[in-house]
Amino acid sequence: MTRSSAATLVAGLLIAFFLPSSAAPAKDYVKYKDPKQPINERVDDLLSRMTLEEKIGQMSQIERANATEEVIEKYFVGSVLSGGGSVPAEKATASVWQKMVTKMQKAALKTRLGIPIIYGIDAVHGNNNVYNATIFPHNVGLGATRDPTLVKRIGEATAHEARATGIPYTFAPCVAVCRDPRWGRCYESYSEDTRLVQLMTSSIVTGLQGDVPAKHPKGVPFVGGSKKVAGCAKHFVGDGGTHKGINENNTLLNFHDLMRIHMPPYDNAVIKGISTIMISYSSWNGVKMHQNKFLITDTLKNKMNFRGFVITDWQAVDRLTTPRHMHYYHSIQETIHAGIDMVMIPYDYPEFVADLVKQVKQGQIKLERVNDAVSRILRVKFTMGLFEDPLPDPRLTKELGAQDHRSLAREAVRKSLVLLKNGKSKGEKPLLPLPKKAKKKVLVAGSHAHDLGSQCGGWTASWQGESGNNLTGVGTTILEAIKKAVDKHTAVEYAERPDKDNLTKSADEYEYAVVAVGEPPYAETAGDNQNLTIPSPGPEVIKDVCGVVKCVVLIVSGRPLVVHPYVDYMDALVAAWLPGTEGQGVADVLFGDHGFTGKLPRTWFKSVDQLPMNYGDKRYEPLFPFGFGLTTKAAAGKD
Ligand SMILES: *[C@@H]1O[C@H](CO)[C@@H](O)[C@H](O)[C@H]1NC(C)=O
Ligand SMILES: *[C@@H]1O[C@H](CO)[C@@H](O)[C@H](O)[C@H]1NC(C)=O
Ligand SMILES: *[C@@H]1O[C@H](CO)[C@@H](O)[C@H](O)[C@H]1NC(C)=O
Ligand SMILES: *[C@@H]1O[C@H](CO)[C@@H](O)[C@H](O)[C@H]1NC(C)=O
Ligand SMILES: *[C@@H]1O[C@H](CO)[C@@H](O)[C@H](O)[C@H]1NC(C)=O
Ligand SMILES: *[C@@H]1O[C@H](CO)[C@@H](O)[C@H](O)[C@H]1NC(C)=O
Repeated sequence: MTRSSAATLVAGLLIAFFLPSSAAPAKDYVKYKDPKQPINERVDDLLSRMTLEEKIGQMSQIERANATEEVIEKYFVGSVLSGGGSVPAEKATASVWQKMVTKMQKAALKTRLGIPIIYGIDAVHGNNNVYNATIFPHNVGLGATRDPTLVKRIGEATAHEARATGIPYTFAPCVAVCRDPRWGRCYESYSEDTRLVQLMTSSIVTGLQGDVPAKHPKGVPFVGGSKKVAGCAKHFVGDGGTHKGINENNTLLNFHDLMRIHMPPYDNAVIKGISTIMISYSSWNGVKMHQNKFLITDTLKNKMNFRGFVITDWQAVDRLTTPRHMHYYHSIQETIHAGIDMVMIPYDYPEFVADLVKQVKQGQIKLERVNDAVSRILRVKFTMGLFEDPLPDPRLTKELGAQDHRSLAREAVRKSLVLLKNGKSKGEKPLLPLPKKAKKKVLVAGSHAHDLGSQCGGWTASWQGESGNNLTGVGTTILEAIKKAVDKHTAVEYAERPDKDNLTKSADEYEYAVVAVGEPPYAETAGDNQNLTIPSPGPEVIKDVCGVVKCVVLIVSGRPLVVHPYVDYMDALVAAWLPGTEGQGVADVLFGDHGFTGKLPRTWFKSVDQLPMNYGDKRYEPLFPFGFGLTTKAAAGKD
């Protein structure tokens, strides 16, 4: 029994005991508050009681920084979010997060109709804004695992870590089909292959929201209880298909190819009861998705039968045209007409509310459209049980960074690593697995060997992420993992940037070297990159070390990078993607406690001139094809 239903029961008993039966409270009966009523009837009843201002409040999502109790009450705010890195306090604990959400929720419950807010956050690889949360590999690494059950378990763990902070809603999963790795969000995509993205979409949605019951009607949102969260499939649609991978740019495709390549994962999400869908900043054939009525209303809502709510991306209404202030009023109209239900405003709520109220009063926006939007938002809130259980559960704070989540993340890391080369030439003994007991020293080198922030990538602690070991209190770097894995008599020496002459002189002191290089953290447009080279001094470190010592190179990156010119120097090459906090998973496979099993979720190109180049293309001359991945055997008794 939930706490609030226990309270209802106690209240009911008291009433039954103290009141004569003739005073049955029929007059005070409020249908929408009755959890025994069908959800659609609760929605209709509540909607019928709402003023226009209360309705538009539901359609408004504002930033945490603005969400004082006064603002929530005055504007009947329907939703609050944390933007990337927006936290209640530096290194806030789970209970500090819960207290913040509780305060906001209590303000919402004090309003005339007592409609709870829905608090959302980008929990895109674990509850990644939160200090000491478990950070899972980014989606590209999960695509490499080819393990949908694992991804479902990660969804469950992420839901628990979000609920630990009192948050019932995540802006995940990203179901983009990234067709060009030059895109700064490519690591948020499971794969270039639509079918693989579909497989992972079904799993992650089920993990986050729970399993839809048998015969669940397609399109109806579903969230299975107070330890699950509402999800958000994003970014609808074609975000991963933009010209040259330029973020938020134009996806030039005919309707057939849009439906064939980019739409199918949304169908999976809708079948699994996804609660919300976020619209893409990008355009389709020159029309911004946020104003595309054909795709949002006619296709997603009417054809695909999506019954949850559609939300904008951050400030997307502002960005629909430039200059913003000239067109904001009209942009609101365009987006609401297109079928947007909730607007991630997130800062200028007075202007947004005033403009939208005015347009409905003047008839520029029909009340039926507003009613549709609000019904969808309320449907999700009722489905989630927010009316019955609006407040965070303090018993769940212990879920943040829990040991079983960290073990799961470590398992995900070892399954995500893709072995691309093992042995310099045919017939030569493969370098991996590395011996734990080395006769000589082990050298660990490179910018990514001892850097948790770079290992986690963007969307960690802050929006862009940050390099260094300061962004979380718990985690294991690759260097630390190696030190833990080797025999206690094996000496591990670390030099981020070994001196070439020194190394050449002392080369035979080393049995082997592990070189970890890759990309610095980035998110969204800041990650767009037309050259995809390994930033300096990565290539020099590879050449200097691998030129004189047997080496395995780990590429820590959100996507394939240019490695073609250096592959001949390497004895072994591993794509490590962005593994997150649990670096021990890297050592698990390097030293053979577990075998390598990961398969490329993307085509590894030779040079950027070939891009875009995807599996199934007529011209396909990759360095390593989609699906490639060497295997090694696990030590006896493991795997
Ligand atoms: C909302 O918060 C932002 C960031 O703190 C601030 O710049 C903005 O002025 C606030 N908006 C309003 C309407 O107060
Ligand atoms: C695409 O990017 C180009 C180059 O930055 C820009 O000029 C153009 O406006 C963008 N198109 C869209 C639809 O965003
Ligand atoms: C690490 O974080 C603390 C605050 O949490 C900050 O004061 C300090 O400057 C940071 N150190 C580095 C090297 O970024
Ligand atoms: C983060 O974890 C570290 C290591 O367990 C612990 O010492 C620290 O108190 C934690 N910080 C927070 C804010 O939870
Ligand atoms: C280089 O030389 C110094 C001092 O002789 C030594 O401490 C260091 O570990 C050497 N190795 C590398 C790889 O730089
Ligand atoms: C590659 O592109 C990135 C992102 O635009 C840029 O920062 C970097 O300097 C470029 N590198 C080279 C070698 O051109």
